Amino acid sequence: MSKLIVVLGATGTQGGSVVNTFLDTPGWKIRAVTRNANSAAAQGLKSKGVHEVVTATLHDVSSLTEAFKGAHTVFSVTDFWGLYYDPGNTEKAAASGLPKNVWASRVEEQQGKNVFDAAANTDGLQRLIFSGLSNASKWSRGKYTHVYHFDSKARAAEYGQATYPELWAKTSVLQVGFYLSNLLTAPFMRPQKDENGIYVFSYNFPMTVKLPLIATEEDTGPFTRALVEAAPGKNLIAYRAWMTMDEYLQIVCAVKGVKAVNQNVPLDASSGSLPEELVAELADNAGYFEEFGYEGRDDPTLVHPRDVSATCAV
Ligand SMILES: NC(=O)c1ccc[n+]([C@@H]2O[C@H](COP(=O)([O-])OP(=O)(O)OC[C@H]3O[C@@H](n4cnc5c(N)ncnc54)[C@H](OP(=O)(O)O)[C@@H]3O)[C@@H](O)[C@H]2O)c1
Repeated sequence: MSKLIVVLGATGTQGGSVVNTFLDTPGWKIRAVTRNANSAAAQGLKSKGVHEVVTATLHDVSSLTEAFKGAHTVFSVTDFWGLYYDPGNTEKAAASGLPKNVWASRVEEQQGKNVFDAAANTDGLQRLIFSGLSNASKWSRGKYTHVYHFDSKARAAEYGQATYPELWAKTSVLQVGFYLSNLLTAPFMRPQKDENGIYVFSYNFPMTVKLPLIATEEDTGPFTRALVEAAPGKNLIAYRAWMTMDEYLQIVCAVKGVKAVNQNVPLDASSGSLPEELVAELADNAGYFEEFGYEGRDDPTLVHPRDVSATCAV
């Protein structure tokens, strides 16, 4: 009998990687969850061999409960930035009286709680892999309180732990590291070629800060499989390399044969490309990375890839 893994975010980066890994893992069937099973991305999942593609939304517990039926494992991811950047949410955020990032964090936290509520009612569930991040407010002891997209995920996991001890005993948290693809997708980090042909990379954090770097689209699946195969109760910071951006740049230059430099540039809202509220959030994010670690390094429950004794591609 094949085991069933239900994958949230299957049309996206993290969930897509989980789908690819489990397609290649004998003994598993995959049920992909999407808000629209008729979308091109959803159809693409079917054509590459995903067994079932179903419609459900993180906003609605009953739709998740239905989608989780029969699952051995649920992989969960919530999408702060999708909520934040969706123009359709601007009015909803304004009506709440909150800055849009604070509104998005509240909604994301509720989505995570919905996952725990639905998973707690799933007969036969053996494992919940919850894609979360560290609680910056907590691990910085109140110094960095604007890292909303971290804290929302952490608070949802804390709710799961406090509310559902039995489910929590079957849960592992996957803290996905800093996406390497951020360097291309985040406009303020994208390298610019200067007049001398040198690529200039800009960040708002020091080049000496070590970060858990991950090729998310390739690595999330193998790390998830490792957590499914290991005993539950893990809080894994998942990364391919633990290095500074200076170290990373040396590799880029050697592999690509280009010249490049890193520079530390404070974020600036004056150009209009970055809303004021995100400047505060990303500035706190950088301070938190530097002083307390991306993963909240004082958290005694943290484990690293070397501690997860299962076959992992990285
Ligand atoms: N950038 C980084 O360095 C980094 C590091 C760690 C964690 N993260 C976190 O990663 C998360 C995003 O994950 P990703 O990169 O995999 O996202 P992504 O590639 O943008 O995909 C988002 C996925 O979420 C699904 N989704 C969105 N809203 C949904 C809803 N209401 N109900 C059900 N599914 C929903 C989408 O599915 P459909 O559109 O098919 O419904 C899609 O598959 C964010 O919360 C971010 O904070 C980012």
